Formats: sequence, C-alpha cells, structure tokens
Amino acid sequence: MNTVIVVGAQWGDEGKGKVVDYFAKQANAIVRYAGGNNAGHTIVVKGETTILHLIPSGVLHKGKVGVLGNGMVVDPAVLLKEMEGLARKGVKLTSKNFFISERAHLIMPYHRRIDHAREKAKSKKGKIGTTGRGIGPAYEDKANRDGIRFVDLLNEDVFEERLRAALKEKNAYLKRVFKEPGFSFSAVRKEYLGYAKRLKRYVTDVSLLLDGMLVKGKKILFEGAQGTLLDIDHGTYPFVTSSNAGVGGVLAGCGVAPYFLQEIVGVIKAYTTRVGGGPFPTELTDAVGEHLRREGAEYGATTGRARRCGWFDAVVGRYGVRVNGFTGLALTKLDTLTGIDPIRICTGYRVGRKQITEFPADIRQMAQAKPIYEDLPGWKEDIRGARSLEDLPRNAIRYVKRLEALVGVPFFLMSVGPQRQQSIIIENPFET
Ligand code: GDP
Ligand code: IMO
Ligand code: MG
Repeated sequence: MNTVIVVGAQWGDEGKGKVVDYFAKQANAIVRYAGGNNAGHTIVVKGETTILHLIPSGVLHKGKVGVLGNGMVVDPAVLLKEMEGLARKGVKLTSKNFFISERAHLIMPYHRRIDHAREKAKSKKGKIGTTGRGIGPAYEDKANRDGIRFVDLLNEDVFEERLRAALKEKNAYLKRVFKEPGFSFSAVRKEYLGYAKRLKRYVTDVSLLLDGMLVKGKKILFEGAQGTLLDIDHGTYPFVTSSNAGVGGVLAGCGVAPYFLQEIVGVIKAYTTRVGGGPFPTELTDAVGEHLRREGAEYGATTGRARRCGWFDAVVGRYGVRVNGFTGLALTKLDTLTGIDPIRICTGYRVGRKQITEFPADIRQMAQAKPIYEDLPGWKEDIRGARSLEDLPRNAIRYVKRLEALVGVPFFLMSVGPQRQQSIIIENPFET
C-alpha cells in the first residue's frame, strides 16, 4: 500500500512515535495532520532518545521528507528550537526535505497566556489539564476566522493588519476577564517577522505537494497526534483536545483525496493511560497502577506530568475501530505488564443497573461507569527480547489473542520495549 495512517487509539501517548519511526523506513514522506506541540512523540534509536513535538517522527531515517499539514497549529519558536535540536543530532531539515503548509495556523503568545489563564480560573473538577501550549485558543481563532496562517505571516501588511485586530480583542480579554497583562503590537510583530524570515523557505502548498507525490506512486505515512478519545468530535468531550486527532483529521488536515487513503493503523497500549482531567473507567489508583507507571515510565513526554494508569479497555478499543476504520493495530508496551497477575481486561461497563458495551457520549455516564472485567493469567518472563510471536510466553500470547478477538482487528505489530528493534512484526502495512 502507498499510504498508511497512524492514529492513537486511546487517550494519547500510546507509542505513536515509536510505531511511526518503525514504519517510516518504507515511506518517502511523513506528515503530521493535526495538533501542535501538545504532542510529545518519543523515539529511541540505539539507546538515544529523541522527543519530537512538531516534526514528524520519521525524519530520523535518512532521505525522508517531513511535512506539517494545514490541520496543525504551529508555535514557530518551538519549531525552530526543535529543528536546531535535530541539526545537532545530524538531522538536517532543508527546503528540499521539510515543508510547512501555508494554511497551517500559528500559535501566538496570547494563545498560550489565555490557555493558562482559563485553566487557572476553572474549578478543580472542571480543569481539562491542558498542556498549556495555547492549542485550544489557537484552534478557536481558526474556527472563528481570527487566526493567522503562515501565508498571512509571509505578507507583512496582512500580518500587521490581522495582528493588530487580534491584539485589540485579546488584550482587552486578558486584562478584563483574567487581570493578566496584554501584549505589545511592536514586540509581537518583530518577534514573528523574525520567525517568518527563518521559516519562509519551508512554507508551501502541502496539498499540491502530497498529491504530486501520490500520483507518482510515492509512499506517504500520516502521523496522528493525541488519540481517538481526545478527538474534539469523538472523544470524551469536553476533556479533549481541540482538533480531529482521529482519522477524520487526515482529509481536513492535509488536503489529500480520500481515494488515496488505504491502511489505517491504530496504536494501542496493552493497558490504558491518560494525562489531564476527565473520566477514565479502568483507572487504577492502587499498587498495580503504580507498577504500570513505574515500569512503563508513564510520565508525559511534553509536560512531565505523571500519567494516570489503568487496565486495557476493550470498549475504547472497539470504539476506535469503528470511528477510525482501523485495518490493523500496533499493540505497545506489552513488556510493562510482566509480573502482574492476574491481568484484567474491561469488556463492558455497568452504569446504574444498565450494562453497556458501546462508548457513551455523555461523560456523566462515563464518570459513573463501572468496568466489567475478565481476568487472564499473567507471566513473569522478560519479554523484551521477543522478536516473533512464538518467543512470547504462553500467557502473553493468550492475552494478546484475547485482545485481538475483543477489539476485532489484527495486530500488525507488537512492541515489547521502547527501542526501535524491540518489536514483533506480524505484517507491514506498506507491504500488503
Ligand atoms: P506517543 O505520544 O504516542 O508517541 O507516545 P509517548 O512517546 O508520549 O509515550 C510512549 C512512551 O513509551 C515513550 O517513553 C516510549 O519510548 C515508550 N514506549 C513505546 N513503546 C514501548 C514499549 O513497547 N515498551 C516500553 N516499555 N516502552 C515503550
Ligand atoms: P501525544 O501526541 C496525551 C491532553 C492534555 C489534556 C487535553 C487537552 O503525545 O499522544 P491541549 O493542550 O491539547 O488543549 O490539552 O489533551 N493531551 C494529550 N494527552 N498525549 C498527547 O499527545 C496529548 N495532547 C493533548 O493532557 O488532557
Ligand atoms: Mg506523547
């Protein structure tokens, strides 16, 4: 197949970075289609860890093209820092191998300040626990037609006009509603025109670029950020991010025709984690939850926050398959479960007297949902060296097969450690 889309199947941090890096070997271009630097994607190659927030995870391979789609919101200061970091590692992004959509929106300093101020003002129960990167306010401006895109930044007159109009409103909002300081037009103008100078050479029509590549039979890998349950439409609203993190984001966020899209790989952890607020039926606050956090190093790649941990939730898994049309799954972090016995799988919820097996839209129902579990025996063997299914202990195979049956799609890949090589490949979607 010529196109593979990688999407988070849970609440983010499923290991998309590792999976994208693995499949990127065969791709010509790797494209981020949604989100911004709220994402933190980790790749470990030969013991060296790289965390990427904006640049696609495939660029560590030589000769790849990296693309930021129009569905993204981009903080130019963060992008330039990330590019510098990669250059120090010998990964050089040039105007021939790195492209930013002219339609992608900019994260402005007022977006970050509004994000922080709003979170601070919310009650403990109401806090979303955003990453504080200005993501929500930037997408809000996009929807409200007040956003500033790269193409606008590159035209000084347009940029000044849009910035002046934005600041008039944002400064008043920050001062009056939150008692926070505003921003000076000349300082922001100067800062952003400086970014324009440095980033101009990468800005292009991404839809045209990708269409041209696809027509020529080039292979494209689309890299999702966040996860299905953080999708603004299909997630646990309002405890979500502000973009279509699911497969729907690809069409809107890149301008590619749907007939090019083929394989859709959901990345799913062998258990569940979530950062920030919102319902999480299988959450564990006991020693098992602590084991998962410790053994899985479940601390945010972006904010360093401890991730909430819990059992695998097959209701979430099946929901992801339905709304994304996963053709296969990449199961990650199976090694983290080593030593836990029994291992529980949630197969449905009890809400009051009702039993439900489909994901509810009402988060009040979600908050009351009591998981229905089935228990499977665990294993003690170190599985990080497994490279084929047969290398796994019998109980690990049993667990994996049970997950596959419950979710209803095959596993293409199973990950047994953070390193690139610590993978069991069943099927490569670029080779089907
Ligand atoms: P992403 O946002 O989906 O790319 O995931 P993150 O990078 O935020 O978090 C995943 C974490 O798990 C990272 O620290 C990875 O290095 C690590 N990781 C990925 N796959 C595995 C695995 O199979 N086993 C273990 N132990 N760690 C993994
Ligand atoms: P990756 O791509 C996990 C969560 C935040 C918060 C909510 C809204 O690394 O999987 P935002 O800053 O987007 O307005 O925050 O979404 N969140 C993530 N959680 N992984 C991510 O990205 C996330 N990006 C946002 O914690 O609950
Ligand atoms: Mg992450």
